[in-house]
Amino acid sequence: MPRKRKAEMLKGYVLGALFFEPSTRTRLSFEAAAAKLGMNVVGFSGTSDSSIAKGETLRDTIRTVANYADVIVMRHNEKGIAEKCTEYCSVPLINGGDGSNEHPTQALLDLYTIKKEFGKLDGLKIGCIGGLKYYRATNSLIRAMSHFSPEFYFISPKELRVRKEFTDELKAKGIKFTETENLQDVIRELDVLYVTRLAKEYFPNINEYNKHKGSYVIGRKTIETGKKTLRVMHPLPRVDEIKEEVDSMKQAVYFKQAANGIPVRQAVLCSLLGKKV
Ligand code: NCD
Repeated sequence: MPRKRKAEMLKGYVLGALFFEPSTRTRLSFEAAAAKLGMNVVGFSGTSDSSIAKGETLRDTIRTVANYADVIVMRHNEKGIAEKCTEYCSVPLINGGDGSNEHPTQALLDLYTIKKEFGKLDGLKIGCIGGLKYYRATNSLIRAMSHFSPEFYFISPKELRVRKEFTDELKAKGIKFTETENLQDVIRELDVLYVTRLAKEYFPNINEYNKHKGSYVIGRKTIETGKKTLRVMHPLPRVDEIKEEVDSMKQAVYFKQAANGIPVRQAVLCSLLGKKV
């Protein structure tokens, strides 16, 4: 049974959930978090049932929804759009993913998961693997973890390395990172292996995507070559990059990670609406 006090904490408040791009976990965990706090949710998923389909500008849509909702979460395929929208959005606006740029609430739940698994955030060795150039979750993870003296290992094909704007930040902060194409070179070092999907929708063309598809497929044997305390994370959805045989290993925490979206997003909503959790 949910505790009553917490269940009613944001009673009477409304969350606007504007998902211009597909989403399962981010949208549904925001909606579930809101429901558990007593909020109501208005919004859309895809633009076919909103006035965007009639040609309304994003600016007008946001201005309108800001009159209906006390806080808005928005996902859109354009880099930097959430930040731009804050100029004309009169309520707090949460970036639920802006193109291949950032996904800050994913980073918060990732850090929460790491803290729960290791009892700390400081001094961990974090490996990120996949098509890192086009992956917003790892961009935000890199920025968020940078506050906790990490060491990073980026495992990707040469053409899909983490974008320079993010590695430049690491250099400026004096945070050590290693780039390699081969997981076996570094797996024994890692505390966390953060696996990513090849984000097909952000590749400039299908040939580039096809070239890299299936580059990294992680199975039990690979995980067994890492430390016993290794934790395997993934923001999900996965396509083929982690075999299902890994799911039952104690190292696999990606479904726990997805579940952690609820308390973390409850905390985000409470803090934006000025309530102490
Ligand atoms: C991620 C996203 O949308 O950026 N998913 C999520 O929010 N849990 C990762 C992905 O789509 O691969």
